[in-house]
Amino acid sequence: MCGIIGVVGSPTTLETLLEGLERLEYRGYDSAGVALVKAGQTWRARAASGTESVAALRQECAAAPGGFQSGIGHTRWATHGAPITTNAHPHLDCSGNVAIIHNGIIENHRDLHDELEAKGHHFTSSTDSEVLAHLIEEWRAQGLELLESVRQSLLVVRGAFALAVVDAQEPDVIVAARRISPLVVGTTPGATYLASDVPAILDRAQAFYAVNDDEIVRLAPEGFRAIDLEGAPVRLRQLAIDWDLETAEKGGYDDFMTKEINEQPDVLRATLLDRRRNDGTITFDEMGVSDDELRAVTRVVLVAAGTSHHAAQVAKYAIERWARLSVEVDIASEYRYRDPIVEVGTLVIGVSQSGETIDTIQATREAKRRGARVIAVANVVDSSLAREADAVIYTRAGLEVSVASTKAFVAQVAALELLALRLAQLRQTLEPAEIAALFTSLNAVGEKVATTLTRRDQYEAVAHALGGARDFFFLGRHVGFPTALEGALKLKEVTYLHAEGYPGGELKHGPLALIEPGVVVVAVATDPAMHDKILSNLAEVKARGASVVAVATDGDETIGAVADFVLRVPATEPMFTPMVDVVPLQIFAYAMARGLGRNVDRPRNLAKTVTVE
Ligand code: F6R
Repeated sequence: MCGIIGVVGSPTTLETLLEGLERLEYRGYDSAGVALVKAGQTWRARAASGTESVAALRQECAAAPGGFQSGIGHTRWATHGAPITTNAHPHLDCSGNVAIIHNGIIENHRDLHDELEAKGHHFTSSTDSEVLAHLIEEWRAQGLELLESVRQSLLVVRGAFALAVVDAQEPDVIVAARRISPLVVGTTPGATYLASDVPAILDRAQAFYAVNDDEIVRLAPEGFRAIDLEGAPVRLRQLAIDWDLETAEKGGYDDFMTKEINEQPDVLRATLLDRRRNDGTITFDEMGVSDDELRAVTRVVLVAAGTSHHAAQVAKYAIERWARLSVEVDIASEYRYRDPIVEVGTLVIGVSQSGETIDTIQATREAKRRGARVIAVANVVDSSLAREADAVIYTRAGLEVSVASTKAFVAQVAALELLALRLAQLRQTLEPAEIAALFTSLNAVGEKVATTLTRRDQYEAVAHALGGARDFFFLGRHVGFPTALEGALKLKEVTYLHAEGYPGGELKHGPLALIEPGVVVVAVATDPAMHDKILSNLAEVKARGASVVAVATDGDETIGAVADFVLRVPATEPMFTPMVDVVPLQIFAYAMARGLGRNVDRPRNLAKTVTVE
């Protein structure tokens, strides 16, 4: 979950690291640090100031001497050890020459720690990562060069890592390695870079390469070479990177969350572009699973986490209704450990914005191991999930920076519903005319989302009116249920207020006991087929004193009888409503958070990409 960066050969080593860390803060910001190396000297600075860690680090670095040949930097999201300066990376070996940064978890760190301590190594942190520095020191003391020392060390390490190592005795070299946690290498004439995420080095490097699991890379000013754990040379695959830096900037908005909410109409257009041929066939360019294989599917399992799991839940309704296939949706971290059944014909779909969420990657690996065909629905091109799957559908939402996912959700729903239509087409469970009509409605969703964005003030006014509320229940039925879950998740993430999502029908089975004056119930009431049922749910909570907010369709006059506040949206084909109805809920959460003075882009305790279990 941490962010890492490294550079060798740059005339602006320190500035490159600090700028990169500023762009990596969304991966974690409990602390930040750099280690810079020139012949015979390793200079380190660290700071642990919560969301201000990188800014504090910059101040610390004002005292840095010049002339460094290489350097590494780290932003931390704490897993082992409190978020304090002594636990901040880089960690040094006993000599002070070797410095390491690490993203991931070393599972056997306790055993390694005890062995190394018995050999006389002195530890200064309570992190799992520090063992790496001392392990490498052991091999360096035996005269091995840095690359070989890292390779030997990794042979005994269990767990996940993206790591980078510098040593004052080899100042023109960085050694980096990866298992599970993401790592890319970048090159430009005279300098070589590494990072956990491309944006950190996007404006510095010209060509980018993916490091695969159990590969070790030696970076030098003139380029890099890579080996596997056995020491055999490997070639890194060049990545196609089509982002520019502007995509990573706020585009004139106060924060990334607003920017990303506003990008949703464009994102929908991009996700749907070129997906239907003239003859009506729904098509995915990147799809590596053949039509025959898709026809042979007998059961679909979707695995995902967080917001992506809510998008997956929407897909269940669409695939079952249109393609008449039985669909299961699982939380990725549960799927992996519950001995799942994979039969011939099971298609597993891993849904992930980042494509690096460890739970989702491990769930799809487990499914593959058991013989399933795996499709990734991912946003980040060439991400680990995308690379490992048999096929990938990219959501084309562009870089999402705000920790709270917004535009990725609508893109995921659109991509998954397209896949549902493709399955229906192949299985002939819908008439061609029905598919054509649904595709036309799907294409119109972007315009409807654009309409909701023009109503921002109305949605914000509702949030301001409810500014003092502390307890929220979100209700929905059918696809309104995952929409309600997503509305609740957005609110709790950015406001830190209590919010829960429920299917409307579950209300009487427990949650109703919690309804009293002061509680706010937000209902998604846009599906005509479910309208009466939701209205009676709302009557029940209103009778018990709750304040009622309803997401309702333009022209729905009945809603006023039960709702104190209405978030109006344009009417949409019911299966596509999550993409429209979520927008007022995103803006509602945002406005509540701003009213409470929260940092919407970087909510406490959360990180954008969860690369540890
Ligand atoms: C919610 C949020 C998280 C992510 C979850 C999965 O706003 O951002 O719940 O949705 O961590 O991340 P991805 O989609 O990258 O696998």
